[in-house]
Amino acid sequence: MSEEIKELFSRIAPKYDFLNGLLSLSIDRYWRREAVSHLATPSFKKVLDLCAGTLSMTLELLKQNPTAQIEALDFSESMLQAGKKRIPSSLKKQIGLFCADSLALPFSDKTFDGAMCAYGLRNVDDNRKALLELYRVLRPGGRLVILEFFRPDRFATRLFHSTYGRFFIPALGRLVSRHPSAYSYLKNSVKKFHSTSEYSKLLADSGFEKIEVHRQTGGVSTLLIAEKSS
Ligand SMILES: C[S@@+](CC[C@H](N)C(=O)[O-])C[C@H]1O[C@@H](n2cnc3c(N)ncnc32)[C@H](O)[C@@H]1O
Repeated sequence: MSEEIKELFSRIAPKYDFLNGLLSLSIDRYWRREAVSHLATPSFKKVLDLCAGTLSMTLELLKQNPTAQIEALDFSESMLQAGKKRIPSSLKKQIGLFCADSLALPFSDKTFDGAMCAYGLRNVDDNRKALLELYRVLRPGGRLVILEFFRPDRFATRLFHSTYGRFFIPALGRLVSRHPSAYSYLKNSVKKFHSTSEYSKLLADSGFEKIEVHRQTGGVSTLLIAEKSS
């Protein structure tokens, strides 16, 4: 499964940012901005961007928290390379790039003040293990910010996914990325993933506390915030 996902993202990497903007009508920028604002104070000095892809979250965080040091990790070298091209030379020293798996993070315990993961955890085989890894690398009191398309549990979101998500996204995604199934995968992975309430429970079972749920654009995207106990 994870080899297929790595291959999928590697193939769509050159078009990934363009398609994100197109398919979300650029609303994803607002969703990311809101997520990152929860790590925007100078107390979050060292931050992990998990499943960092082409570094949209990393670059947004450096706008809002300009002194942060960010370690951006993804298992697709092509996604990271596409992201590397976006880093202005003034920010190069503040961003570390790591090609590695979320299930075995190459960092010591309690390394980070904060961690964020946007639209990545849905692709990870074992979310329980990924959350335990995140918990391990956060310092006590460290904050985790997750942006995700969870399995819809409300009528309006189900309607969105069964119309726009089911027909428009796969068709346009196929046309622009020229990958036959990448954007159908998106639709299927949402259907198979946890709902927001299931995921909140998984966070609590993994040791996180102060769990907050913020629904974005009627619940199409969801922002989860949690903290490691201090
Ligand atoms: C939908 S993209 C999101 C990228 C970025 N966070 C963003 O907001 O645009 C998901 C990313 O997760 C990465 N990914 C999926 N599973 C992974 C894993 N097990 N370990 C590391 N990266 C993974 C993929 O390579 C891909 O770049």
